Amino acid sequence: MSVCIVYHSETGTTRTAAGQVAAATGSDLVEVKDLAGYSKLSMYLKGAPRAMQGKRADIEPAVIDVSGYDAVVVGTPVWAGNPTPAVNAAVAALVGIEGKAAVVFCTSGGAPGKTLETMKAMLADRGADVRGEISLTTRDVEKPGAVGPLVDLVRSLAKERIGQ
Ligand SMILES: Cc1cc2nc3c(=O)[nH]c(=O)nc-3n(C[C@H](O)[C@H](O)[C@H](O)COP(=O)(O)O)c2cc1C
Repeated sequence: MSVCIVYHSETGTTRTAAGQVAAATGSDLVEVKDLAGYSKLSMYLKGAPRAMQGKRADIEPAVIDVSGYDAVVVGTPVWAGNPTPAVNAAVAALVGIEGKAAVVFCTSGGAPGKTLETMKAMLADRGADVRGEISLTTRDVEKPGAVGPLVDLVRSLAKERIGQ
């Protein structure tokens, strides 16, 4: 079972969560960078309105080929109750996502809004088979073992596959 974790992170929390899940499950990591190069202030002044509008950022890598994987995990920070523009672009940039099992997660201050619903809908539109979602807070991620439910979800995909 090979899993690719695709995520965006500006201030490190989603990166930490993704890294812990990758270490526990042997998954590969793809970090998506927003080429806007936000400062702390411009994340709120420019990034948050773009997130609310569902915009797609210019990202690096511009193409994310997941055709060699069995499942894909997509992780985003919450910006103004939404996925970040970089994650909107990342979902659009996935190649080979059709028919793949997918899991979504977000990290937030505790008010994720419609972030996970939006991510699930975007991935379903791309033809993914979305199997689960996990919402984490920045505080959760600081605690040891806090990504356990996400690790369990990724492992459950592997078990389903073995049972097929
Ligand atoms: C521009 C901006 C908007 C945010 N909006 C929300 C929000 O609507 N709800 C919330 O709970 N946290 C919000 N946060 C907090 C982040 O979601 C949280 O710190 C997240 O873990 C950051 O992920 P990262 O460190 O991987 O970038 C916001 C942070 C920023 C920078």
